[in-house]
Amino acid sequence: MSFRTPTAADHVEDVSPGTGTLPPRAWYARSDARSLSLNGDWRLRVAPTADAEDDSFAVPGFDAGDWARVTVPGHWVLQGDGAFGSPIYTNHLYPFPVDPPRVPTENPTGDHLRVFDLPSDWPAAGSGDAVLRFDGVESCARVWLNGTELGVFKGSRLPHEFAVGALLKPSGNVLAVRVNQWSAGSYLEDQDQWWLPGIFRDVTLLHRPAGCAGDFFTHASYDHAGGEGTLRVDSEVAGRVSVPALDIDVATGESVTVPVRPWTAETPHLYDGELITPGERVPLRIGFRTVALTDGLITVNGRPLLFKGVNRHEWHPEKGRALDPGTMREDVLLMKRHNLNAVRTSHYPPHPAFLDLCDEYGLWVIDECDLETHGFVEQEWRDNPVDDERWTPALLDRAARMVERDKNHPSVIVWSLGNEAGTGRGLTAMADWIHARDDGRLVHYEGDADCRDTDVYSRMYPAHEEVRRIAEGRDGGTRARRRLPLILCEYAHAMGNGPGGLADYQALFESHDRLQGGFVWEWIDHGVRDERFGYAYGGDFGEELHDGNFVCDGLVLPDRTPSPGLLEYKKVIEPVLIEVDGAGGTARVTNRQDFADLSAFAFTWSCQVDGETVGSGPLTVPALAPGGSADVKLPALPAGRDAETGWTVSAALAADTRWGAAGHEVAWGQGAVTARRVPAVEPAGAPAFPGDGTLTLGPGVFDARTGALRAIGGVGVTGGPRLDVWRAPTDNDDGAPWQSDTRYGLLWRKLGLHRMRHRLDAVEQDGPALTVRTRVAPAAWEVGLAAVYRWTSDGERLALTVSVTPEGDWRVPLPRLGVRFGLTGPADRVRWFGGGPGEAYPDTKEAARLGRWESTVDALQTPYVRPQENGARADVRWAEVGGLRIEGDPEFWFTARRWTTEHLDAAAHLTDLVPGDTVWVNLDHGQHGIGSQSCGPGPLPHYRLDAERAEFSFVFTPVG
Ligand code: GAL
Repeated sequence: MSFRTPTAADHVEDVSPGTGTLPPRAWYARSDARSLSLNGDWRLRVAPTADAEDDSFAVPGFDAGDWARVTVPGHWVLQGDGAFGSPIYTNHLYPFPVDPPRVPTENPTGDHLRVFDLPSDWPAAGSGDAVLRFDGVESCARVWLNGTELGVFKGSRLPHEFAVGALLKPSGNVLAVRVNQWSAGSYLEDQDQWWLPGIFRDVTLLHRPAGCAGDFFTHASYDHAGGEGTLRVDSEVAGRVSVPALDIDVATGESVTVPVRPWTAETPHLYDGELITPGERVPLRIGFRTVALTDGLITVNGRPLLFKGVNRHEWHPEKGRALDPGTMREDVLLMKRHNLNAVRTSHYPPHPAFLDLCDEYGLWVIDECDLETHGFVEQEWRDNPVDDERWTPALLDRAARMVERDKNHPSVIVWSLGNEAGTGRGLTAMADWIHARDDGRLVHYEGDADCRDTDVYSRMYPAHEEVRRIAEGRDGGTRARRRLPLILCEYAHAMGNGPGGLADYQALFESHDRLQGGFVWEWIDHGVRDERFGYAYGGDFGEELHDGNFVCDGLVLPDRTPSPGLLEYKKVIEPVLIEVDGAGGTARVTNRQDFADLSAFAFTWSCQVDGETVGSGPLTVPALAPGGSADVKLPALPAGRDAETGWTVSAALAADTRWGAAGHEVAWGQGAVTARRVPAVEPAGAPAFPGDGTLTLGPGVFDARTGALRAIGGVGVTGGPRLDVWRAPTDNDDGAPWQSDTRYGLLWRKLGLHRMRHRLDAVEQDGPALTVRTRVAPAAWEVGLAAVYRWTSDGERLALTVSVTPEGDWRVPLPRLGVRFGLTGPADRVRWFGGGPGEAYPDTKEAARLGRWESTVDALQTPYVRPQENGARADVRWAEVGGLRIEGDPEFWFTARRWTTEHLDAAAHLTDLVPGDTVWVNLDHGQHGIGSQSCGPGPLPHYRLDAERAEFSFVFTPVG
């Protein structure tokens, strides 16, 4: 005898997309029909299982007075300080047993209640209908209004509507929503992100007057040959379409062709129009453009595109995926201001307001369906829902809800079936449906290696060499695939410090037509604001299964501060290439845009002497067409400069735009005129022994026995300078567990590069010099580095030459090679002449501009959510910190921080970094490249720092 009877919760495990909802249709934020936002303060009760509570809460009169309050839109696990459970982060593993479509008994279930009145001027009953719209609920919702069940839906990041007119009352309407965290739908939503249940997008009541608009599809194409646009709005409810600026007033379904300015991401011309049905006026924002696959290339308005894109998850460090309009706008502004031109909405359709912004500001969009079944990879894709026809209705429902919702956005040029869902008939069915419904856009899916269903060959994280092979058609593949362009839907994994190698990818993209660019992974670190940690990541909420900080892999930090990776990307994808021939006195300017000429930009030249700008002025550059180049003569330089001299040429917005103010720099280039003269120290005097155990040499005070430096002038020094090869491994050094290439971060640690011992072999006086001979090596291994420090002084300055000779069979590159020491006195401000203003490493230094810079020690740090090596400044000629001026020969990498590398290495969160009194300075001759191995390839061979003989010098001067 069974005591468990099927309960009302069984719909949760049903593979169907739901019941009771209206067919999907075009989405719009407003019209002249009334609407009522039901966002705001709701009542919430969270139960541990789907059937713990009955559904009596949905009945009017239920007393929810003792329930908690929750803000809708929102995720209940991010509200209530943990009282309602916690977020869970997994990359691709399902956080529950894989037994589709079954879900665990432990299924947190949030009952949401909201009582609302209709506004007094809400149209009376009988004058039309009303629709209740949910824009996003994770993962399964069952809805009642005034005690009547409306239905059930799944498809978390998709809209669902119910007809509710007959149920509405003027006041005291009771809206009840039961939300289950886990459902059959969860199997389709295995994206790499936090699992966050809740009603996380808007809830709106829409009045539907008699004769209101139904679904409609705006077709607005552009004929680039004739400069004309053709508009046709297909509408379920017949009416008229008006576009006053174009003198258009036609019936729906009728085509009209007129001269227009086309829409592109560079020139996002939108025409305001209206769809007028007998009962409703719906504003339209029309962008004329034609998307096609032409001769194997993605073209818009007849021209091939180059995507300079990014993958964007929706994220806010406090609100999760419940994004407010301001945050969405901030994302778009940041993207535009950093030269990005494209977004892939990984891995679900975003809040529709985001697409409005993409239309308005100009970004190409790959709109991706809410679909990922990645966890099935662990069972060789057996039972994958996308290859099981029982699930096909759910897949088609998701495809339709995306396409119908977003089809009127000019910015959307490609539909993506989803992400990492293997292969299967369901995906083919989706592609077929989309192709049939919308022949004006292309279809993308990265998992379709043979390009059976797709219009573009898409890859994630291929190494540069493979990209080159594909570009040259040497990669094999099906005939269908070989005819298609390549895009990298994901590349350059921006986890922690990095990604490295962006410029090398871009160079490939720029030089092969078949390569149409890519989308960096990803936009933002999904750190959760948390007092304990600064930002929390996977595991911080006690999850039994999690993927740690793999969720923090964005170009912006969780608070949207651009990381050095974004600044590097901005430089690499500049719309204008500026190559300065310093000696020749010219700048070659190339328009790298696809559509616009250069008239939006104003150019300036400036001249720097030892990093200081000594002159500047406007530079006249022709309004070159896309792809065009010109050599522009720079002014004559004043002659006879005995210093390092160079040019900077910069391009900035000539006038205010929607996204940037006049003067906002979009591109720059530099070129040297005369080279740097390195400092020479003529030794004068010899080491002296005052008899107190010290040894002095010019301003230097050493320990006479060990040769360790203690002070330079009045500046106290500790712990060196001595050879240092260790850096706190970056996420890209450590690499991802599945990487087949060598993961140097792990090898370095195995080899003990973090615990090098310094054996003192000799402290010698050699004429004017003090020479200290050492061998630096880790326990247990034969490898080591002979390091000789040779000190001299001219009386004022102290010079150090370090000679390094590797010993033994070194098979790994070094993380860094240089010296480290501590400054024991006050040290706050830092000035330097070199690359800046931001962090740089060998394969992330395009954005480092040669100049004079100032900072504080604290501001030199990049607060990566998981602490790791950061903050180096490249090509430094000299730096001043803590009363010391340090000049290098050759230029060096400069790093200063208030904790040691060992502390940095041990820290798991920002709050673990506690500043000490000593400022630790690294002066590096070399740094190993960064690469992208936290998900992609490691640094290219020419960014390796091999253990080789090296010699490098510094001159220290106390500056008081
Ligand atoms: C990809 C995946 C993304 C993300 C990324 C690594 O395979 O599509 O969702 O997981 O790897 O951060």
